[in-house]
Amino acid sequence: MRKKLVAGNWKSFLRYDAAMDLLSSLTHHLTNHNDNTVEVVVFPPAIYLESAVRMAAGAYGVGAQNCSSNTEGAYTGEVTANMLTSVGVQHILTGHSERRQLFGESNDVVKDKINRITEAGATPFFCCGETLEARQAQLHKKVVEAQLQASLFHLSEDDFNKVVIAYEPVWAIGTGVNATAAQAQEMHAFIRETVAQQYSKETAASLRILYGGSVKPENAAELFSCADVDGALVGGASLKLNDFVSIIHAAKPLL
Ligand code: PGA
Repeated sequence: MRKKLVAGNWKSFLRYDAAMDLLSSLTHHLTNHNDNTVEVVVFPPAIYLESAVRMAAGAYGVGAQNCSSNTEGAYTGEVTANMLTSVGVQHILTGHSERRQLFGESNDVVKDKINRITEAGATPFFCCGETLEARQAQLHKKVVEAQLQASLFHLSEDDFNKVVIAYEPVWAIGTGVNATAAQAQEMHAFIRETVAQQYSKETAASLRILYGGSVKPENAAELFSCADVDGALVGGASLKLNDFVSIIHAAKPLL
């Protein structure tokens, strides 16, 4: 049984005080209410990561939204995967469509980052997903398959087993228009099948595939009820404690 995982991508929001308030409320809530049936991870802005690790106190995982594609060196302004793990960061996001589109990150750059994350011993959260144009042209499976091939499938099976994939259709991110449960299930099943062909049925069966793109308390339960949807990568709704907690709650297995 794959454990459900709900992750919050804060993007470039919240000043220090608001960020600390949200972290401390989340720690308080999860310490009192989470029974460990759902794994929770937050991805705050880099400058808050060290505090976040301390404030999480093990109640949830802490991840970085980005890292350098280089190991170390004269790269002014860059933060390396090794530095991140040295302050207790356990997960690193890469391949997010905002980084691809706004910062020109190619599949090759994403591949380099995946390697740096794996070498540093963190969990790579790999985002993939098609644009609206690609979906309208019925190219969504092709696009996602190409992203997997180009940036992930060079990994050994051992390293691949540490990866979490987030399927995030670009047209659903921050738009309020989520993929329907049927659209998400179709793509997640396709990703799992592609992984089974590349690696093995066992690796595909244990891989967690999150859905991302306008996840909110109102649509989370339906998305989580899909056989191949193992949780969510939540943007906007992860900034509001009550919404994020409702989404975590929706991921709990029905007893
Ligand atoms: P959203 O963002 O939930 O605000 O659509 C999701 C993401 O970018 O990971």
